[in-house]
Amino acid sequence: MEDETRLPHTQQAFNSFGISDDEFSLFQELIYKMVGIYLNQGKKMLLISRLSKRLRMLGMTTFRQYYDHLLSSSTDQDELVRFINQVTTNKTDFFREIHHFDQMKSRLLPMYVANSKKNGTKDIKIWSAGCSTGEEPYTIAITVAEYMKTLQAGIPVKILATDIDTGVLKHAQEGVYRTDRLSGVPEELRASYFRHLPDGNWKVEPQVREMVKFGRFNLMHQFPFKFGFDLIFCRNVLIYFTPQDRRDLILKFRSMLRPSGCLILGHSESLIADGLGFKSLGMTIYQLPDQK
Ligand SMILES: C[S@@+](CC[C@H](N)C(=O)[O-])C[C@H]1O[C@@H](n2cnc3c(N)ncnc32)[C@H](O)[C@@H]1O
Repeated sequence: MEDETRLPHTQQAFNSFGISDDEFSLFQELIYKMVGIYLNQGKKMLLISRLSKRLRMLGMTTFRQYYDHLLSSSTDQDELVRFINQVTTNKTDFFREIHHFDQMKSRLLPMYVANSKKNGTKDIKIWSAGCSTGEEPYTIAITVAEYMKTLQAGIPVKILATDIDTGVLKHAQEGVYRTDRLSGVPEELRASYFRHLPDGNWKVEPQVREMVKFGRFNLMHQFPFKFGFDLIFCRNVLIYFTPQDRRDLILKFRSMLRPSGCLILGHSESLIADGLGFKSLGMTIYQLPDQK
């Protein structure tokens, strides 16, 4: 599977803290319990590089001190949130795995629009689970907007975008990106859906931002939703979880899909949904059969 957490050697050389096996085990267990991310032994350097700066800021010299600090009742919640923000891996892009958006426009959205007419559902609901800095949900919104332009009468589409990391959610909500981050966005879509700011950055236009609602949510928790989704994107998130947790999460996603709804995974997560009651539409798109 693709590993987005490998560190360049130069970065490793700057780390001044060491971590013992016992200390690493403590953090491994804590991170797993809090967010389900399982760091194997090979991720020691990653943990050191992500947390060293914070240890230095707090005047600490060992990882054990930081661990005790995190667990101390006098430590405020903000420190735990900051800690979690440091351990997540947030790599993402606009139009990442573009075939999913091609399929959305040519096949999935037409199907859900037809279903809504047939079943009387008033909207299409989409969830970007593990949305990082917002490129995925905004790509979904742009794809929806482009598709709706081809219809005589559109239908409301609501996009929920969630992540555990408050830092990436803040960036996502602002919707401002550097020019190099937009390299995957075709020129005509950039012109229609982004505004060029005086400082050279690009801001997602309100018509797209308004389609997406962001929120912090831990996928390891029970799902609180009272409605179902037509499409759930959970791409490049499951790779950080244990095989059992991946399976449990997919079953939870399945229970949240409306009839004919689809779960879309990342390309390196292709085998995870096999045997769990989906029909594969290819390209890591998994559809719930009509009969639940
Ligand atoms: C590699 S990014 C994938 C972003 C996007 N889905 C994509 O494919 O481009 C994985 C995201 O999952 C989030 N994540 C990891 N564990 C999570 C959890 N337990 N609950 C919610 N989000 C989580 C991380 O914070 C990170 O932003």
